[in-house]
Amino acid sequence: MKGLILSGGKGTRLYPLTFTSAKQLIPVANKPVLFRVIEAIRDAGINDIGIVVGDTAEEIKNAVGRGGRWDVNITYIPQESPLGLAHAVKISRDFLGDDRFVMFLGDNVIEGGISPLIAQFADSDYTAQIVLTRVAHPEQYGVAVLGNDNEIVNLIEKPKDPPSNLALVGIYMFDHHVFEAVEKITPSWRGELEITDAIQWLVDHQYNVFPYVHRGWWIDTGRPGDMLEANSLVLEELTPHNDGYVDRDSQVDGRVTIEKGAEIINSVIRGPAIIGEQTRIVNSYVGPFTSIYHHVLVENSEIENSMVLGHSKISDIPHRIEGSLIGRRVVLTRSPVKPKAYKLTLGDYSQVGVL
Ligand code: TTP
Repeated sequence: MKGLILSGGKGTRLYPLTFTSAKQLIPVANKPVLFRVIEAIRDAGINDIGIVVGDTAEEIKNAVGRGGRWDVNITYIPQESPLGLAHAVKISRDFLGDDRFVMFLGDNVIEGGISPLIAQFADSDYTAQIVLTRVAHPEQYGVAVLGNDNEIVNLIEKPKDPPSNLALVGIYMFDHHVFEAVEKITPSWRGELEITDAIQWLVDHQYNVFPYVHRGWWIDTGRPGDMLEANSLVLEELTPHNDGYVDRDSQVDGRVTIEKGAEIINSVIRGPAIIGEQTRIVNSYVGPFTSIYHHVLVENSEIENSMVLGHSKISDIPHRIEGSLIGRRVVLTRSPVKPKAYKLTLGDYSQVGVL
């Protein structure tokens, strides 16, 4: 079996974070979402993985390389523009050949333990297997209607009036018949070749498509709130360890991971939380559900339920920072000079909530 990860796309909903970098590389609990996807596929016993890349190809290649770190072989498949998930399958035909494969969206995070399901597909006689989960807002997803015998009746992409709350999770398994389907379908109203249309084509042509209902959590990290939610859920799954330094004046509870070279000085850290490599937390409070990435300084400040990406500096902030997604190399500090006013240098599409 082979693996296919879709890591092209534009990531418009995560602007400005994704203006200059790939959303699949945003670290959730200090590990890029894409790395988590590679690990899930590797854990299913798959070594050959293709990654579909778009505008951010170079950044993804630099971060992932040839896959040696995970003991897998990575092949990059360039997609000229994001023309749809089924288009990504179409252009991957040479890589996939006649092998059965699992396709993952490179920006989805799923509860640990999905790998056995993928491994089972290798030996099954299904043409395809889709993974469904119950969601609160089905109108935002591809939705499936199941019949009395658990068979798929119908699949609809982002229905205005959803007929069910079973959404397609970003994990799909196929055999080579899917190539016939992606050749036969035509672009949707939004100009994309939809994977839901390809699966519907297989169902309509009496191929055996199995709907597996996943009971754990699953997050499509499309928007900032989703990122924070995924971060919280993954933090709860982490097995904590301390590879850094905690001074005697600090209090760090049992659910905190401290990575290599991190320093906690005169601070309180309440888990679940993770403090990244070479990061310094000084005279500060870091509260639950917070991930602070590498080479960050948090000084004389309080932060919780937030994510801070690499090389940022937060100092002397008088109010607690909450529910925030702070990008790379951000400087957030109290201004000592008069007049007493907000002094902001914000990129396009930034969002700031002030007191
Ligand atoms: P989406 O979230 O549907 O699209 P996007 O990444 O362009 O984001 P936005 O809507 O915020 O602009 O994509 C899901 C995943 O699939 C994501 O990892 C990007 C990838 N993808 C491709 O690789 N090729 C494609 O043609 C499309 C549409 C998505």
